[in-house]
Amino acid sequence: MCGIVGYLGDKDPKDVLLGGLKRLEYRGYDSAGVAIHDGTTFKRVRASGKLSALEEKLSNESFSGRIGIGHTRWATHGEPSERNAHPHKVGPVTLVHNGIIENFHEIKEDLKSRGAQLASDTDTELVAHLLNEEYQVTKDLRKAVERLIPLIRGAYSIVAVSEDQPNKLVAFKEGPPLVVGSSRKEVIIASDVQAILDHVQEVVYLEDDEVVEVDGTDVKFFSANGFPIRKESVKISWSADQMEKHGYKNFMLKEIFEQPRAVAAAIDPHIDLNNYRVALNRVGFGVDSVEKLDSLNFEDDLKNTIEKLSGIERIFIVACGTSFYAGMVGEYLLESFAEIPVEVDIASEFRYRDPVIPKNSLVIVVSQSGETADSLAVLRQVKELGALTLSICNVKRSSIDRESDGHLYMNAGVEIGVASTKAFVSTLSVFHLFSVFLGRVRGKLTEAQEQEYTQSLVAVPSLMESVLVYDNFFAEVAKTLKTFRGFLYMGRGVNYPIAMEGALKLKELAYMHAEGYAAGEMKHGPLALIDDRMIVMMMVPSDKHYEKSVSNLQEAKARGGVVISLGTGENTELKEMSEHYLSLPKAHWSVNPILEAIPVQLLAYHVADALGHDVDQPRNLAKSVTVE
Ligand code: G6P
Repeated sequence: MCGIVGYLGDKDPKDVLLGGLKRLEYRGYDSAGVAIHDGTTFKRVRASGKLSALEEKLSNESFSGRIGIGHTRWATHGEPSERNAHPHKVGPVTLVHNGIIENFHEIKEDLKSRGAQLASDTDTELVAHLLNEEYQVTKDLRKAVERLIPLIRGAYSIVAVSEDQPNKLVAFKEGPPLVVGSSRKEVIIASDVQAILDHVQEVVYLEDDEVVEVDGTDVKFFSANGFPIRKESVKISWSADQMEKHGYKNFMLKEIFEQPRAVAAAIDPHIDLNNYRVALNRVGFGVDSVEKLDSLNFEDDLKNTIEKLSGIERIFIVACGTSFYAGMVGEYLLESFAEIPVEVDIASEFRYRDPVIPKNSLVIVVSQSGETADSLAVLRQVKELGALTLSICNVKRSSIDRESDGHLYMNAGVEIGVASTKAFVSTLSVFHLFSVFLGRVRGKLTEAQEQEYTQSLVAVPSLMESVLVYDNFFAEVAKTLKTFRGFLYMGRGVNYPIAMEGALKLKELAYMHAEGYAAGEMKHGPLALIDDRMIVMMMVPSDKHYEKSVSNLQEAKARGGVVISLGTGENTELKEMSEHYLSLPKAHWSVNPILEAIPVQLLAYHVADALGHDVDQPRNLAKSVTVE
């Protein structure tokens, strides 16, 4: 987590760094800081809390230099406070860091035994001490970095400057991403492209064990042991305009309303609207670099994809958070449409449980950011074990995208709200079309079935529009809902993961107790929780589970639970049983989760908003979890 920026150029570094940090604040918001050259020295200004506190502190500061580094923090070592805020400075060396230094303890003991004075509780300061020691030997920042790298272990990306070389930025990474954008007049290094795209339109992605040295506007890349390397720059596909709120109160609400467009963008490249058949577009299995995907021949790549997938006998889906719940929906769809065994797991569990991956397995890693540490670790692990891998990412050229064998994209556009919304429905859509495609490849679906299912997916964006009208309803009832003791979300079959996602959204945003349950499990525990201070939100669409779900709803109601039900069309039975009945448009069972996602998001959003919480930046969370 944490966001880092480095700048050297003709603009005022204060403005560029603050602008960049604003774009990176989704990565952490426990504290923020900058170090900017003021003509004689790098002056540090740091503040605990959100970036606005730093902005306030900097409002009367000006700097004559043209170089600086900045950081927005998600605390790992050391509480959120000004003394633990980055940048950290030791001697002439100042640096910012994203990640975790795993040999923290060892380094700390060693430094202490040599009399080092520590000014913070962070692992980052230890790196600054080590870098300073190496700098005293080499008197050159890049060479000092080369000597530092073998001394630290863990996941990190770091940008460093030195008082003695005020025209130089040096950055290096192992794990968390770093991108470098440059023009003839400026160079900017950041944790991701969002912090850069106001300034340059092309970037170079730094790989692990690579070092970049910026000297003036001369940018040179090196391997960790000092050999010069050549790197190609790529065009950024997102625009700065996508990062504006466009009149919405916050990003999350805007992103909820963008969902019909997100679904359309996710499925559009893969569906032939003349005959409603799915043809996965440039998955690129076996292509050695994602940069080459666009230039692949569509027909050849499709043949290759079919060949690769036809040998698959088992699928594993691995992800974290909301992406994991999207994976759970994927399991239902894949087993039903493609009749293939599927296992879904949380990345942080999967990677440590000695997973058995049989021959001919496909592992699908789902990640909006493409940087989640546990998901990335699973990808690397299963590749070692010989599995074929496929990623479903939103951020193109992210680590997971770049390292997987095959690539599908959410195409949701920039998602800024920390709690994922539009990337979730995009992923459900990608799973839907992938399941239909695999069903055909495996000979499990007739052409007519393929067309029917695809048509129902194509219809979803306009159906979603009609569900978004519940925004007003939830804005109204949130005032009452926020007074309840807890929320129980329930569903059966493909609707069950939406119950899980609904509970997660409420926890993330409203900080209220919520649980998602398979409705059939109610009698095995959750029924005991139900009384008149508990909201029971039940997904009860008109599908094969309908009658059983209605019985579960009766049981909840009989125990005093206050029921909100989501059903299909006009349904007097559900209306009578529920405090609030929300009617969803009639749709194929396989796309109901996409429609149900909207009310559960709106409920969490409005309850959190009514409680006065910052919905875009919930406490203690970060959007991109690049540490374990
Ligand atoms: C964090 C975010 C969630 C997200 C999860 C997985 O917890 O707050 O919204 O679902 O990470 O992220 P990923 O980028 O891998 O989908």
